[in-house]
Parts: sequence; structure tokens; C-alpha cells
Amino acid sequence: MNLQDLLKKIEEKTYTVGIIGLGYVGLPLMYTFHKEGMPVLGFDIDKSKVSNIQSGTPYIKHLGQEMMQSLSQSDRCAATTDFSRLTEADAVLLCVPTPLNQYREPDMSYVISTTETVAHHLREGQLVILESTTYPGTTEEVMIPLLEKHSGLIAGIDFYVAYSPEREDPGNPNFNTAKIPKVVGGHGEDALQLAQALYDTAIVQTVPVSDTKTAEAVKITENVFRAVNIALVNELKVVYAKMGIDVHEVLDAADTKPFGFMKFTPGPGLGGHCIPIDPFYLTWKAREFQENTRFIELAGEINTHMPQYVVEQTTKALNTHKKAVNGSKVLLVGLAYKPNVDDMRESPTFELFHLLEELGADIAYYDPYIPTIPPTREHAHYTGKQSIEWNQETVAGFDAVLISTDHSDIDYAQLAEWSDCIIDTRNAMKSVTPKNGQHIFKA
Ligand SMILES: NC(=O)c1ccc[n+]([C@@H]2O[C@H](COP(=O)([O-])OP(=O)(O)OC[C@H]3O[C@@H](n4cnc5c(N)ncnc54)[C@H](O)[C@@H]3O)[C@@H](O)[C@H]2O)c1
Repeated sequence: MNLQDLLKKIEEKTYTVGIIGLGYVGLPLMYTFHKEGMPVLGFDIDKSKVSNIQSGTPYIKHLGQEMMQSLSQSDRCAATTDFSRLTEADAVLLCVPTPLNQYREPDMSYVISTTETVAHHLREGQLVILESTTYPGTTEEVMIPLLEKHSGLIAGIDFYVAYSPEREDPGNPNFNTAKIPKVVGGHGEDALQLAQALYDTAIVQTVPVSDTKTAEAVKITENVFRAVNIALVNELKVVYAKMGIDVHEVLDAADTKPFGFMKFTPGPGLGGHCIPIDPFYLTWKAREFQENTRFIELAGEINTHMPQYVVEQTTKALNTHKKAVNGSKVLLVGLAYKPNVDDMRESPTFELFHLLEELGADIAYYDPYIPTIPPTREHAHYTGKQSIEWNQETVAGFDAVLISTDHSDIDYAQLAEWSDCIIDTRNAMKSVTPKNGQHIFKA
């Protein structure tokens, strides 16, 4: 099938979009294409995700029931663990994890194994797009050689390859997948045209760039920008606190400047699958060019120190109440890495757990989004731990309450009624005036 025929198929919405990796990125992406009338076919090695899609059972809380039901009830949607069905897809979009390994270097194993699987089923005319965040050069240097080697086909002649970073912001009520412009870089003009035509069916705007490595660099740049700016406000928070200045008041006032300033918010450290990790993909790649990424390293240093700073503030808070950390009961409020989602990957709350326990504190947590801590590779010993019940008797039984994530459905005024010692890393208590003898510490 030639390019014109493929473009026509997209236009007629008979072009099947295959998505590999049905997590925080892949699931809403599949839904976005499906909503616009495209046939979709989801793949995952995780059987439970596949059966949840088939039965319409939500497995990512903020995405809700409606999305799952519309997918499960549709004859244009299927989910499977059978990768031989990849041949049914016209495009194959890869949304698999790109974590760091134990040496904080890119762990490309998911991208490599998925690409190999795709390569074994690759057929002429297929479009393969990597959406996972990665270092510039991945598509050209890692993916294309594997696709060509295992299929015997040639990229740009027999099949098409593109890179388009996912910019999903889970839980953001203003921007879902369809509303976020999509940057696209193609391996050649035809691949770019095809990928653009595909995204144009479902996404508000596509932004073409010269090639795949430029598109890869765009995503990394966005996340480096966030990591560096978050580190900056975290540093300012520490300095201003010593000067008796409230950093949040400063940032809110600075944010009234209509140009030249963008507000970032300090917190207990960096969390999530992206910001603490992605910048180090560039750090690693830069070494190949004998270059250092000093801003990224410094930002990493400041951000990873934040939980330690919060623990120091917690120690001081308990001290004000003539209590030691050792033996104190401390409640951590919010386990997710950001408000209103159930995603706890890289959450700094785990580090707070760990550091405070090391000092002898007795720790519990409350998170309405994470009633029980599921199994994780990094925090296996917390598996099965349960969120406390949110009531006065339980909360008042803690010597200190440390707010690490400001979920919006928590009643912070009520919390102020229940606890005399609150350490607030998110400015969640901003509208609460402390009572006599009560201390609300900003950390
Ligand atoms: N979560 C975000 O907010 C976000 C935002 C932008 C970009 N990204 C990037 O998108 C990519 C995916 O992130 P995510 O948050 O969706 O991850 P996720 O862990 O939620 O989902 C990944 C899915 O891939 C599946 N998977 C793993 N190996 C597989 C394989 N070999 N074959 C098929 N499926 C496989 C997993 O079972 C899982 O369901 C990452 O590169 C991430 O950096 C994430």
C-alpha cells in the first residue's frame, strides 16, 4: 500500500491504531483515537490491564469509569496480550516505561524488548512511533536498527518510523491527551506526513520538527526546564525560610508580573515517572559527546536533598512540642507524588517514610487515592501497608502531621482542628490561622 492509500485510510478512519503499553500514557492515548472514530488495538504484557479494559473496570483512578466503559463496549476497540495481532495494526505506538537503572543510567530494556517484538511482526507500510521519553538518538540508533535487523525491511522504504513525545499530565483537568499539541519528528518526509496525518485526526495540533532526534530533545528539554526551575524554588524556599520570608507569598506576588516570570512551586522533593528521571537520560547521552550537564546535576542534587530538609523541619517542629523524633508518631498525608492522582512512582513521601523511620519515628500515612500500598520494586517492605482512617480520634493520636501531597479533597481546616503540630510542605494550610498553642510549620 502506498503513502496516498495509507493517508486515505486515515482520512476514512479505517486505519487501525495499535498501542503498546496501556499505562498512564497508553490508555488515554488509545481512548483519544477511539473517541475520534479510529479502530484501536491495545497491547500489554500485564494481563490484568487487558482484562480490565475488556470488562470496563477502571485501573487508573483519575481516568474514571466512562472511558473504560466506552472502550469495553466498543466493537472498534480490543485489548490483548497476543502480540501476533500486531500485524492487524496500521500504526504501532510504543508507550512503554523508560526508567533509570540502579546506576541512574537509562534502562532501555522495555524499549528494546518491545521494539524486537514489533520487528518480528512488522509488515510493509506499517508506521512505528515511539512515544516514550528518551534521549536524543534513540529512534535512529536503537529502534530502527532493531526493526530492520529482525524484519529484513528498510525504514523509510518498506515501513515508516517517527518519534512523538507524550506530554500527558495525569490528573490535569484542563489538558487531556487530545488538547495537548503533539510534537512529531519523522524518519524522512513520508513518515512525518503519515504520523502527522494520524495525530491530526485526534489531537488539537501537531508540531512537526526536522527529525526524530529533535523531537526527542524537545521532550527532554521540557522536563529539564521543570527539574531546574523546581530546584531553584526549592533552594529559594530554604534561604527565605531562614530570613523569615514566606516563599509562597514571594512566588504569588512575583507571579503577578505579566511577562518574564513563570511560577514553579516548591515541595518535599521531586516525584513521578518523568521529572526526577528524564533529565538524566540527557546527562548520560551528553557524556558520549564529552559534555557535562551541570544544571541537571545541580538540580538533581538540590531536589534529592529536599526530603532531608523536610525531616530537619519535622525534627524542629516536634522539638517545639518538647518531643523527640525517636518514638514520636508521625502521620504522612499524601503518598501520591502529586495531588489528585493515585501515581506514587518516585514519590518523595517514600523517602520521608524511610528517613523518619530511620530516626525511630512511628510512621503511618493517609491517602484517599492509595488505600493500600501496592507491590513496588523499590519499596517492597511497604507493600500492603494501609492508609489510616480519616477521623478526629485517629489523626489526633499522632504527635505530628506532615503534609507531603496536597490532594484537594482533604479538609485542611478540619485537620487544623485535629492536630496541634502540622508540617506543611505544600502550602496546603495557607488559609488556616493557627490556634493558641498550635504550630503550623512550613517546610
Ligand atoms: N506518566 C506520565 O505522566 C508521562 C507523561 C509523559 C511521558 N511519559 C512517558 O511515557 C512512557 C510510559 O509511561 P507511563 O507512565 O505510561 O508508564 P506505565 O508504567 O504507566 O505504563 C507502561 C505500560 O507498559 C507495559 N509494558 C512494559 N513492558 C512492556 C512490553 N514489553 N510490552 C508491552 N507492554 C509493556 C506495562 O505493563 C505498563 O502497562 C515513559 O517513557 C514515560 O516517561 C509518562
